[in-house]
Amino acid sequence: MQTSSSIQNRLIDTIAHGNCIDVMRQLPANSVDFILTDPPYLVSYKDRDGRSILNDSDDSWLKPAFAEAYRVLMPNNFCVSFYGWTRVDRFLAAWKAIGFRVVGHMVFVKRYASRARFLRYQHEQAYLLAKGNPELPAAPLSDVIEMVFSGNKLHPTQKPVSSLIPLIQAFSRQGDLVLDPFCGSGSTCVAAFNTGRRYIGIELDPQYQQIAQTRLARRAAI
Ligand SMILES: C[S@@+](CC[C@H](N)C(=O)[O-])C[C@H]1O[C@@H](n2cnc3c(N)ncnc32)[C@H](O)[C@@H]1O
Repeated sequence: MQTSSSIQNRLIDTIAHGNCIDVMRQLPANSVDFILTDPPYLVSYKDRDGRSILNDSDDSWLKPAFAEAYRVLMPNNFCVSFYGWTRVDRFLAAWKAIGFRVVGHMVFVKRYASRARFLRYQHEQAYLLAKGNPELPAAPLSDVIEMVFSGNKLHPTQKPVSSLIPLIQAFSRQGDLVLDPFCGSGSTCVAAFNTGRRYIGIELDPQYQQIAQTRLARRAAI
């Protein structure tokens, strides 16, 4: 019989295909050093090419997914999650109900506007969530980080690896295990790989799981 530890070992440095709630349920509690994720923003997003994101209009996954993320995260460690600012109430309510402590908020400044309406929308945002009481860092990371345009070639909301690397460096150590349960094209996993961390990516959409897997396999082959 497979134990949760053997399942986790099999998933390390891979992109799992599936619903992250089901995949994380199979992992041991308190076994992941850092979670960096970019879940659907609950805005029914569609880009200019008509590309959309699974689970982006319904929040039934929100609490169960972050409850599993909380369970697998080691105590006194961090989760960074991007979120949709129009739905901040739902994200915060879910995170707090689960037990995460909200200990920071980060703004990712873009030189370009992703959209213009009442404002030119030139930033993205993420919360720093703690499980327990992590130690204060000697040199805290700034909560304002530059975000260059990723090009969105691999995914409609692809994050640039350059904005994720400082987060991984600040909140994990060499050799640590970094989890992204909503990994899309695998940007978090590339950032983890590039900084000497191990990773587990999980992606529900088979098209993006394949893209992420190929992207990471290419990196590993270099
Ligand atoms: C905002 S995108 C992440 C994009 C990613 N940061 C990148 O750079 O490519 C969110 C991703 O979560 C995936 N997703 C939605 N529900 C999921 C679930 N229950 N389990 C795993 N992945 C899910 C979507 O298919 C989508 O690719």
